[in-house]
Amino acid sequence: MCGIFGYIGKNSNASKEVLNGLRILEYRGYDSWGIATKTNKKFVIEKHVGKIDEAKTNSQFFDLLSTLSIGHTRWATHGGVTRENAHPHLDCSRTIALVHNGIVENYEEIKKQLVKRGHIFHSATDTEIIPHLIEEGMKTNGFATAVRDAFNQLEGMNAIVVAYAGSSEIIAAKTGSPLVIGKSKDALYIASDASSILPHTKNLLFLKDNTMAILGGKVEILSLPEGKKEKVKFETVSWEEETSTKGAFSHFMLKEIYEQPRIIRNIAKTYKDSVLDLAKTIKNAKGTFFIGAGTAAYAGIAGTYFFSKTAGKHVNMSFASEFTYLLDFLTSKSLIIALSQSGETIDVVEPLTQVKRKGGTIVALVNTQGSTIYRMSDKKLLLGAGIEQAVASTKAYTAKLSILLMIAYAMKHDVENASSQLMTTALEIERILKESKKLKPIVDILTRSEHIYVIGRGVSYSSALEAALKIKEITYIHAEGLAGGELKHGALALISKGTPCIVFAPNDETYQSIISNATEIKSRGGVIIGISPKKEAIFDHWIEVKDCQDAVSIAQIVPVQLLSYQIAVKKGFDPDKPRNLAKSVTVK
Ligand code: F6R
Repeated sequence: MCGIFGYIGKNSNASKEVLNGLRILEYRGYDSWGIATKTNKKFVIEKHVGKIDEAKTNSQFFDLLSTLSIGHTRWATHGGVTRENAHPHLDCSRTIALVHNGIVENYEEIKKQLVKRGHIFHSATDTEIIPHLIEEGMKTNGFATAVRDAFNQLEGMNAIVVAYAGSSEIIAAKTGSPLVIGKSKDALYIASDASSILPHTKNLLFLKDNTMAILGGKVEILSLPEGKKEKVKFETVSWEEETSTKGAFSHFMLKEIYEQPRIIRNIAKTYKDSVLDLAKTIKNAKGTFFIGAGTAAYAGIAGTYFFSKTAGKHVNMSFASEFTYLLDFLTSKSLIIALSQSGETIDVVEPLTQVKRKGGTIVALVNTQGSTIYRMSDKKLLLGAGIEQAVASTKAYTAKLSILLMIAYAMKHDVENASSQLMTTALEIERILKESKKLKPIVDILTRSEHIYVIGRGVSYSSALEAALKIKEITYIHAEGLAGGELKHGALALISKGTPCIVFAPNDETYQSIISNATEIKSRGGVIIGISPKKEAIFDHWIEVKDCQDAVSIAQIVPVQLLSYQIAVKKGFDPDKPRNLAKSVTVK
């Protein structure tokens, strides 16, 4: 999390260059933001709590003449959301400005030492120790050596970008979070992702872990911890700059929900060769694991059901953050399929680094070209969902399910069948979207609720998990997704008169059993919201989702995406940027 952007070049309005970069990076954190701009051998700092658009960005700060500036959008880890804790942070002399992504695990010990030496701190962050550590180093060394020595003392996975008022260089170093350098005719850029640099140049260098970069008249790369010179290799990428606007929609989330039929149709029509190729890779592997986090993990759970039912093939699924503890099962013949919208999630990147050491094969099913997971994988298949801007994932989720279903059918050479099911599903989603106003009475009930339960069986279990997550993250209502059969093993104790329960009851082998579970809830006073092709008498409210055969989990999540969106708006929350969350999770 946290977005870093730095500029050094001929344009004398460096602050605006950085501000524009931060706007693109704001998906990485929007608790607070700040910029340090070098002018007349000192730094002028602008910092704000909240989102960029909520602050005045026309202040005099943005008229300063400067050719060097660094900035940051923050997602708080150490220290609350305050102006003092916002980056950039400075040393005592206020001549070293630094932005940081990651967590300095040993910051307390270092801070104690620095306090003993008389350093004064103004924030509660781990970050602030770094410019002070560099300041100490500069008593005996030059800027670059002091940065290297300071960075080498930090434990954890970190990325820093730092500038010194007495130099016309920006220095970066990293052991974790992503940093990309861009070189245009007139400027050098450094940022947390390529998308914020692509409007300026396609000439990019992805900084490797355990290296540092010195950006000045030219770019130098040094290894860490030693400081040995490394080859400087820029690559010209062919990726198009992707931008996304809300268009006629009031929020990105709503727009992205409405984009789903088009994306699913595109997968149905154009992914046939790619999924056949992946099916071959899976057949040749000895042990396949899906890994992902949050919504992507739930797509992986759905994938295990697709593979079991359609391909008769056992695949394993693990939450990526837990996979690190299951690596003993891996061999060089193992296949890991990493699911990720951003392609940057640290919980996925970390175990993949270890898979690489063991020699296993990595396949990336990601939405972001050029992302860390994309680059570290042996095979990649882009989700083709286009930029997903809203923090709550919608279209990337249904794109993942569509591709996984296609692969499962490709395993038995029946990809045409999957493709035609997806075409039917896209039509059904369009119908659901057209009727979204009909959800209003259910929105009214759920908006008043403190707890919502969601149940499903088989592949609909993954729908229940994803539905509960969508509700939680943007409406702040407690929601719990459960396998229907698990209810009576504990959670039923929480059902009382009026407790709403969403029941996924598609036309498949789970139907009778899930209706029995709904009956158990109803007998305890629960209010049943059935999502099903049939209108069962037991439903207090019915949301129709027509039979989409094995693709049903793709269609039936859409009404819950809409419900969550409508509840969030009704409660006055911003569905695009829910509290405490960020779109790209690059810290552990
Ligand atoms: C929920 C959501 C998150 C992400 C998770 C993984 O709506 O968006 O749960 O799915 O943080 O992110 P990616 O897919 O970028 O790896």
